[in-house]
Amino acid sequence: MIKIAVLVSGSGSNLQALIDANLSGQIVGVISNKPEAYALERAQRAGIQTAVIEHKQYPNREAFDDVMHQQLLDWGVDLVVLAGFMRILSAKFVSAWEGKMINIHPSLLPQYKGMHTHQRVLKTGDLYHGCTVHYVTAELDAGQALAQGVLKVSYHDTTETLALRVHELEHLIYPQVVEWICNQTIQHTSNGVLYRGKVIKAPVQFCKI
Ligand code: GAR
Repeated sequence: MIKIAVLVSGSGSNLQALIDANLSGQIVGVISNKPEAYALERAQRAGIQTAVIEHKQYPNREAFDDVMHQQLLDWGVDLVVLAGFMRILSAKFVSAWEGKMINIHPSLLPQYKGMHTHQRVLKTGDLYHGCTVHYVTAELDAGQALAQGVLKVSYHDTTETLALRVHELEHLIYPQVVEWICNQTIQHTSNGVLYRGKVIKAPVQFCKI
């Protein structure tokens, strides 16, 4: 059985969706870089062990990442799932977990890497918005996309309604992608990313128009 660690910094609604999904893999631990993250309570309630590794207590990014890396090894983790983990990871850490670490980002990547995606979508007047699950590489929000949830932006949308609507899509697609990795529907190979045995270049799309 695939052993999963979830890395969080905040509310953890995506963690909750993963807990509720009855994955064929097992969430063996949750790491937060913030002691006050509500995600920790969600994990504890589900009987999942937690570790708080506060980035502020380490002299630099590498030292913080080394401690996280060791914790993941101690738990025997196969797959690292970033769920609202708001720290940039060092190149060394990313390369150690290459092909075994995924992230969810609230935009249709490659559009709107970084922060404040909902505001930027509204400011540009985009017709579509959504979220992307992707492998993590050293470049921010740039690894191969595995799946996207797409929604149509309404005339009435505000940053708050978009945040809610994107979250809903995230809770749908993240557990699905994690399950696909657990049951090997998605595989990271030296020939590329396979989905149902075939190399894919573009993400699988889920639409909620
Ligand atoms: C999610 O919307 C996720 O896409 C975003 O943080 C939120 C976490 O919510 N992640 C990023 O912006 C990463 N670049 P949650 O704590 O309720 O799961």
